[in-house]
Amino acid sequence: MKVNIVGAGNIAEYHARSIKALGHELGLVADFNEKSAQALADKYGCRWTTSTDSLLSEQADLVTVAVPNAYHYDVAAAAVKAGHAVLCEKPMTRSSENSRQLVELVKQTGRPFFVGYMKRLHPTVQKFADYSSRIGQMRSGLVRVYHPMPDASWPMIANHLALSPGSPMDGVFVNSGSHMLDLLLQFAGPVKKVLAARMQYHDGCYPKVDKMAHALLEMENGATVTVECGWLSLFGVGRRENGWDELIELRGDEGLATLHTTWWERPQFESPVAELWDESLKAKESFNAGMVDNFQEEYRLIEKALSGESVPLATVEEAFAVDQLIDDIFAAAGIHSQKEGVVTQ
Ligand SMILES: NC(=O)c1ccc[n+]([C@@H]2O[C@H](COP(=O)([O-])OP(=O)(O)OC[C@H]3O[C@@H](n4cnc5c(N)ncnc54)[C@H](O)[C@@H]3O)[C@@H](O)[C@H]2O)c1
Repeated sequence: MKVNIVGAGNIAEYHARSIKALGHELGLVADFNEKSAQALADKYGCRWTTSTDSLLSEQADLVTVAVPNAYHYDVAAAAVKAGHAVLCEKPMTRSSENSRQLVELVKQTGRPFFVGYMKRLHPTVQKFADYSSRIGQMRSGLVRVYHPMPDASWPMIANHLALSPGSPMDGVFVNSGSHMLDLLLQFAGPVKKVLAARMQYHDGCYPKVDKMAHALLEMENGATVTVECGWLSLFGVGRRENGWDELIELRGDEGLATLHTTWWERPQFESPVAELWDESLKAKESFNAGMVDNFQEEYRLIEKALSGESVPLATVEEAFAVDQLIDDIFAAAGIHSQKEGVVTQ
């Protein structure tokens, strides 16, 4: 499989590494920052360009969109229009309206389109699907996403935001929470209504991005789900006591299914853990498939999908559902753009 990448920043490194590790061809990387494009190309032995158009005019089996969220829509739509199969980083776009347009475009062109919610691909997370189907009538749920953020990082974030409306910092809820909302929708079904939401901000950042987000959801299955996300300077909390406190819990009449997910940048050091409390057996079962690099899993499954196999990669419609939920939660908090003060596309 030949893959070309648009965006040669932080996450592109994980994509390039996985493409090469699996023996695929990394053809070309494009970034409007020449130094970034050249550095990634030099490290992984491929060609580079500053022109996304020239990348899109080249044949490839897949184009990976690894630019900041603000540019996902433009780049992904251009790639689909140029006839490419696309892997778009998450969240798919920064507005449900843009995501709806992508759904239409993908439908019209019939090109394969995958979204980078790669946490769902881990075998332990797939096992959680089984656990969550064994809790009986779901009554309640919890989505928790706390990531360690040193206080000293906020001036740097404020600077980033002030310099560029296309900063990859979109707040804890979008940057960190979107993966877990994808898992919630996958395992607990659709949301009927957002009952309440609140965002809290860090002083001194403009445009503002949330550092804490809370939401209360009513699911179509009747359950109530609490969502809590935060970037706080707590470094010893969470299952691994490394500050990464990320879990999804689904509680029913017959059991409790729990999934602890892991720090995205440590796929080779940490593995998720799934647990099921079974009330009828009065016993707890747990599952840990060990270390699986979610980024490699993404490309392994894309290759299968391109040859017609059915795989659990996030579809354009599923990613649209996440973006719709994100917009609904912001609206319930009385905020109509993901970065307050910035008009989203
Ligand atoms: N899957 C995950 O767990 C995960 C983790 C981190 C980041 N991400 C996602 O990866 C994406 C990129 O984040 P990042 O941290 O790598 O950002 P980054 O700022 O480190 O890199 C983005 C790069 O894209 C370039 N760029 C911006 N707009 C461009 C355009 N229109 N055309 C060409 N190049 C362009 C920038 O110059 C920069 O080099 C975001 O969507 C983010 O949400 C996903």
